[in-house]
Amino acid sequence: PERTFIAIKPDGVQRGLIAEILSRFERKGYKLVAIKLVLPSKEFAQKHYHDLKDRPFFDGLCDFLSSGPVLAMVWEGEGVIKYGRKLIGATDPQKSEPGTIRGDLAVVVGRNIIHGSDGPETAKDEIALWFEPTELVSYTSNAEKWLYGVN
Ligand code: GTP
Ligand code: MG
Repeated sequence: PERTFIAIKPDGVQRGLIAEILSRFERKGYKLVAIKLVLPSKEFAQKHYHDLKDRPFFDGLCDFLSSGPVLAMVWEGEGVIKYGRKLIGATDPQKSEPGTIRGDLAVVVGRNIIHGSDGPETAKDEIALWFEPTELVSYTSNAEKWLYGVN
């Protein structure tokens, strides 16, 4: 089953947006398979955002990600990597559509409240970076037959 790594960044946690954001993924029909509150070190943040290490905002971005608790999660469902990014909205909240998480709940690119993996490879790598295999909980949800149908 397809899985993606989603994290509520320190601004989303501090602003009290955890339940609002969780509910959007939950109501869509995705299944939560891992969740924990983490205080990442700056070194850990640098690992998470290693692809951006040459960008001018990299240092500030890593300071920010390590500035408070992050809610790390893994969500599962058909197409969750790509569609999860649609729920999140464009990177810059000035350009995110209304109805998306960033469009509705954030104002500037440096404080865009949520992260989502951008493809299958990064999803795999980010899940492995943030979680031990034993922290991922595989289970059958009773909603699945209604979400996906049977036969
Ligand atoms: P993530 O889900 O957090 O990875 O965002 P993204 O995939 O939509 O964007 P990207 O991976 O390109 O950038 C990662 C993060 O860096 C963004 O979420 C922003 O917080 C930050 N960022 C990206 N571009 C800029 C920028 O031009 N200025 C600043 N200050 N931050 C930026
Ligand atoms: Mg990204």
